[in-house]
Amino acid sequence: MMIKPDAIEKGHIGSILEKVTSAGFMIKALKLTQLTKRDAIKFYEIHKERPFFDDLIKFMTRGPIVAAILEKDNAVSDFRTLIGSTNPVEAAEGTIRKLYATSVGENAVHGSDSEENALIESKFHFSGREIF
Ligand code: CMP
Repeated sequence: MMIKPDAIEKGHIGSILEKVTSAGFMIKALKLTQLTKRDAIKFYEIHKERPFFDDLIKFMTRGPIVAAILEKDNAVSDFRTLIGSTNPVEAAEGTIRKLYATSVGENAVHGSDSEENALIESKFHFSGREIF
């Protein structure tokens, strides 16, 4: 997962991590860091043809993010339920995006969309000795 710059600017790191751990996720790796433009382009490569791509890269590099690796049974699907729809207007009550996201672009958190991508994204953010 990532906590995105909008949520960090508003001081929501603690509240979001509390919701994540209360939902039964174990934190296996955690860091506050800032993506370079090159990092963000690589991370979001699959969206490069989308009209919102440039705004997404500007947004994701404008300030620090928190990256974390989470562990739980059914983690990918349960995390997506916990964060809610990409667009906070459509997100269910009580979800992280309903509570903390600003808009469909500035949507507070990122969650991997598959186990395969979770592994790729974990390796993108963390080296072996940062993972517990
Ligand atoms: P995320 O789950 O990190 O995956 C891709 C990101 O692109 C998404 O969250 C949003 O931040 C952004 N995004 C997706 N759809 C749109 C959209 N319609 N307009 C602007 N940004 C979007």
